[in-house]
Amino acid sequence: MKAIEVENLTKIYKSRSRRNDIMALSNLSLSVQKGQIFGLLGPNGAGKTTFIKILLGITHPTLGTGSMLGETIKNYKNKSRVGYLPENHKYPHYLNAEQILKYFARLGGYKSNDLTGRIDHLLKIVNMEKWKKVKIKKYSKGMMQRLGLALSMVNEPEIIFLDEPTDGVDPIGRKEIRDILLNLKSEGKTIFVNSHLLSEVELISDKVAILNKGKLIREGSVEELTTTKQVYQIEIEETPKNTELFNNTNYSLIESNGNKYTFKFDSSESLNTLIDEIRAKKLNLLSVIPKKHSLEEMFINLINDNEKQNL
Ligand SMILES: Nc1ncnc2c1ncn2[C@@H]1O[C@H](COP(=O)(O)OP(=O)(O)OP(=O)(O)O)[C@@H](O)[C@H]1O
Ligand SMILES: [Mg+2]
Repeated sequence: MKAIEVENLTKIYKSRSRRNDIMALSNLSLSVQKGQIFGLLGPNGAGKTTFIKILLGITHPTLGTGSMLGETIKNYKNKSRVGYLPENHKYPHYLNAEQILKYFARLGGYKSNDLTGRIDHLLKIVNMEKWKKVKIKKYSKGMMQRLGLALSMVNEPEIIFLDEPTDGVDPIGRKEIRDILLNLKSEGKTIFVNSHLLSEVELISDKVAILNKGKLIREGSVEELTTTKQVYQIEIEETPKNTELFNNTNYSLIESNGNKYTFKFDSSESLNTLIDEIRAKKLNLLSVIPKKHSLEEMFINLINDNEKQNL
């Protein structure tokens, strides 16, 4: 079942002169299944925050439609079913975690006496129980992000939108946040994450979409986006003396490093042909590994290609 679906979403930020109008989103269609962790990736200014703001009703689309949890995004009542951690959030420094959580819960319609237990539970989820009575001004960036996460869950949301949740957080803090998100997913929550920290998103997302200048340029599972077709690295114990081994029209040597050779094959049969040749020459085959791009390599190639096409 779909948690989010948008069709042909376009957002133009109008300026006094038309020349300065900004097309933040252009004809964007995508969907997120319930229970998924979905990563929206893109360089600065790609339109990621604008997308979340449209779904939350903070800004409106110029064209296009969208739905969340089966209701149109125009339905304001539905917003009580979602949570939001904005980018660069700031809370009053003189409050402590308990006070700010109470404040947000009251804004969300909860009564003070419903909250005993709930606030402790939220602080436990984000590992902040010990900081309940400590003023926010003493918090590190990682703690600020974890408090933000607790705040985004105050109304028991079905979908949680997180805009750059690990921005400025150290590797240990980032791992903690990833673990929290995976736990939330295991409870059936849908999580929508905006990020440019690709190695992070790679570790937790079920599906990712890549935006550049408001346009969707790729969408799929991390596996689909990072697998390079028919490219394998082959490791041989000794360096073969006869280089003819690598001359075949069905495969080509792309790269060699010591006794590791990377080939591109035209089919899986030609991979087997090469293996047969290696064995026939009595060379010892150590490993055959399908080559993968990291999400970051794929992202950089994709954005560069997209920029060239737009020149
Ligand atoms: N309120 C606004 N008025 C005018 N232009 C805006 C407004 N908000 C965003 N923009 C512009 O729209 C484009 C998309 O911005 P957006 O903040 O959605 O990008 P982003 O992908 O979230 O970027 P970042 O990674 O830096 O957070 C940018 O060119 C930005 O300058
Ligand atoms: Mg943003």
